[in-house]
Amino acid sequence: MCGIIGYTGNRTDAASLIFDGLKTLEYRGYDSWGIAVKPKSGVQVVVKKRTGKIGNATVDDLPASSFGLGHTRWATHGGVTQRNAHPHLDCSGKIVLVHNGIIENYEELRRLLRPGHRFRSQTDTEVAVHLIEELSETLPFREAVRRAFLRFTGLNALIVMHPQSQTFVAARNGSPLVAGFGKNENLIASDAPALLPHTKTVYFLEDNDLVEIGKDRIEVFSASSGKPKIVRTRRLTWDVKQAEKGKFPHFMLKEIAEQPALLIDIARSGLSQAKINARRIDRAHDTYLLGCGSAAYAGIAGAYFFSTIAGRQINPAIGSEFAYLTDFLTSRSLVIALSQSGETMDTLEAVKAAKAKGAKILAVVNVLGSTLYREADFKILIGAGPEKAVATTKAFTGKLAYLLLLAYSLAGKPKIGRSLLLKAARVSQHVLTDRYTAKIRLIAGKLKNAEHIYVIGRGLSYPTSLETALKIKEISYIHAEGFAAGELKHGVIALIEKGTPCLIFLPDDETYGANLAGAMEMKARGGKIIGISHRNHEIFADFLPVEDVGKATIIPNIIVGQRLAYELAVLRGLDPDMPRNLAKSVTVK
Ligand code: AGP
Repeated sequence: MCGIIGYTGNRTDAASLIFDGLKTLEYRGYDSWGIAVKPKSGVQVVVKKRTGKIGNATVDDLPASSFGLGHTRWATHGGVTQRNAHPHLDCSGKIVLVHNGIIENYEELRRLLRPGHRFRSQTDTEVAVHLIEELSETLPFREAVRRAFLRFTGLNALIVMHPQSQTFVAARNGSPLVAGFGKNENLIASDAPALLPHTKTVYFLEDNDLVEIGKDRIEVFSASSGKPKIVRTRRLTWDVKQAEKGKFPHFMLKEIAEQPALLIDIARSGLSQAKINARRIDRAHDTYLLGCGSAAYAGIAGAYFFSTIAGRQINPAIGSEFAYLTDFLTSRSLVIALSQSGETMDTLEAVKAAKAKGAKILAVVNVLGSTLYREADFKILIGAGPEKAVATTKAFTGKLAYLLLLAYSLAGKPKIGRSLLLKAARVSQHVLTDRYTAKIRLIAGKLKNAEHIYVIGRGLSYPTSLETALKIKEISYIHAEGFAAGELKHGVIALIEKGTPCLIFLPDDETYGANLAGAMEMKARGGKIIGISHRNHEIFADFLPVEDVGKATIIPNIIVGQRLAYELAVLRGLDPDMPRNLAKSVTVK
């Protein structure tokens, strides 16, 4: 799940333009980065590659240019080295390529190449540029790229630079690509925010699309037939400012702060969408909630909403497992696919498997034009704006907000759902005040050297615990385990000893008493109880008050957990936006 970008036009600062694009794409992978540009005067491309994050690096040492491409890497094949960083060049240095995805049959393709090619890296990608090199000896450039692309197995997107003609040929099968239509310039990139500073007119490539891009033309073809395709462009609704940090030190903090306004927005404008889709759920014979990582936890929360609010059984499922559980699906089934990026491969594969059984797909997604958005039969756009921090926050509570409205609409009480969301927005605003976050920071200060943190809750607080533990793990690298409080005495309690930090969500609902019992069992073994609840209790070593707003209380509770994880990461001197080993959208299986 790398980030790739290309520019061709009249500007002469292609290197810095591409570099800025890479900074926008860096959340897709930050093991290494690289740029190649064709100098205004000269034919040989100039390449710069570095391992690690972009940070304070510059490209001032690259020549003036109007044509180039770039890459930011999430390593799959070959270690994190400068040699394995992209772009990759053919033996002549005349063909230059960047790639996102995995060429699964790269070893077989390499064996089929004629002897004599000089391989410089251990990547799967490099075989592609040597294959194109061989094919372009007898075929026109676009045709050589097309034939090579058709021989790859796996999910891929690539951009190939042809210095002689100052054109790109790019193609996608599975991994995202967006073409940007400019004035006397054109671009191509892994996602839309990287194009925003230059154009709002884009074309989201579909699987099996191949494009040829010059500075004054973009032509689309079918990769399998080579035939031209008529395409419809889209107008992006986001603006550049939304994709910038503004006054915030980190995107994660900015995105946490944007949640109260998002909740109000969804409460005000999301009800009609919720009613229409609630009718679809009502008509469906069986319905499932599907997602990966945090999106899977939103699905579990959704199942509690639909059961307790609408008396409706809707089954949550993990995206990467769902494809093995579709035997019972029919054309009367509805799958609600939850995803921030709309590009998570495990979710897309599960959706494909469900569609193959005739099931209908309702996507609850944040990225307009993403693969899931286009594949789905019905769509709810979360409207959270660009989410850049790898750890999802606003897109997660946005999903919860729509699932809450869907459940109340299904129960025929949409207005109750809306008023609860507005109350949740007010309480969320409160837990984000400086006074309140100072308390969170204080608690983070006590936890920052912990090796293990246990997070528990019952009912809706079970997915709250799972999501909070995930946030703590992915950005502070502290081992945190979230689980259903009732499971404590069935094993996990063996891990509780003197001073073990235990975070407990105890909202004012039917789970309060049993939750408190769980807290007391942990305290009895020496656990240090941090209570997040509507009222304090003597067994709490620390207490974070969250006013009760019914079923919507999960939302401010989640936000408290997000902020605690953020403070832990900052106190441990870590980058909350780009945690190690992760990437914003997981586009490989
Ligand atoms: C969450 O913070 C993680 N980034 C990850 O678990 C994420 O939720 C998962 O990869 C699914 O992503 P999606 O919502 O874009 O499909």
